[in-house]
Amino acid sequence: MELQDKRVLLTGASGGIGKEVAKALEAKGAKLLLVARNSNKLEALKDSLEFPHQHEILVADLSTDGGLEKVKQTCLNLSQKGQRIDVLINNAGSNQFSFLAQRTTASIELEIRLNLLVPMLLSQSALSWISRPGIILNVGSTFGSIGFPGYTTYCAAKSGLQRFSEALDRELDGSGIRTLYLAPRATDTSLNDHLVNQMNQKLGNKSDSPTIVAEHVIDILEKEQAARWIGWPEKIFARINQILPTVVSNSIRKQQDTIHHFINQVHGK
Ligand SMILES: NC(=O)c1ccc[n+]([C@@H]2O[C@H](COP(=O)([O-])OP(=O)(O)OC[C@H]3O[C@@H](n4cnc5c(N)ncnc54)[C@H](OP(=O)(O)O)[C@@H]3O)[C@@H](O)[C@H]2O)c1
Repeated sequence: MELQDKRVLLTGASGGIGKEVAKALEAKGAKLLLVARNSNKLEALKDSLEFPHQHEILVADLSTDGGLEKVKQTCLNLSQKGQRIDVLINNAGSNQFSFLAQRTTASIELEIRLNLLVPMLLSQSALSWISRPGIILNVGSTFGSIGFPGYTTYCAAKSGLQRFSEALDRELDGSGIRTLYLAPRATDTSLNDHLVNQMNQKLGNKSDSPTIVAEHVIDILEKEQAARWIGWPEKIFARINQILPTVVSNSIRKQQDTIHHFINQVHGK
């Protein structure tokens, strides 16, 4: 899709990746509807853009029914004014690095909700307000393809998001709406606290700057590529894990002590 003058709804806009995606989309001539919970951060982001008056903010807690309804009504209103959203980017997400045994039911539910159920419900909602041609882009993770200790719930959610994206793209084949999936690897944002960053360093896991992810967002939208994994060797591991999961299990087993050391620190042990 050519992004010039397209209207893009970006969730998680004020986060590390969201901010860079917003800048990159603006540079391509897109008009943005920036969504997150914290209005000050959204205002600051909007003001930091080159043409703030071309963009809107929408304060909504997407983990609530009210937040989702607010997005829907806003998009339907825009649609009635002839300002349909052309692209929905489901980017809001969160995770907790923790043993499953230590997680509360509420925290598991919230993580599944924000990373999986919310993109599904926003995609469903979008069917009534998105342009045709239109694009839904779901931001997943390498952890959607590789089960990793300490991220059981997040892996489950992002894995579900990948399959959801694939199924919806096939379901909507010929409708004018594409559903794409982008899986970043570790990225330098506040999603990862200092212990996770230390662990990644120790394990030799590379971390991208959010600007790299933003470049991929632009590219996948322009090419309308169904799915993309960012980074070597992660994209190869994702494939190997599908065909030969034991190889990946053996590799992670060698890292087990390091991983447990850092999870235990999270739990204050
Ligand atoms: N960073 C990484 O290592 C990494 C790697 C792979 C994939 N990803 C994925 O990339 C996406 C962006 O991550 P990030 O690193 O940019 O995270 P981040 O810096 O923590 O930003 C998260 C964004 O989501 C918003 N958000 C959180 N809860 C929300 C809620 N209930 N309702 C509405 N908005 C909410 C936050 O704003 P408010 O708090 O103001 O609501 C913020 O704008 C996520 O889907 C993440 O899973 C990240």
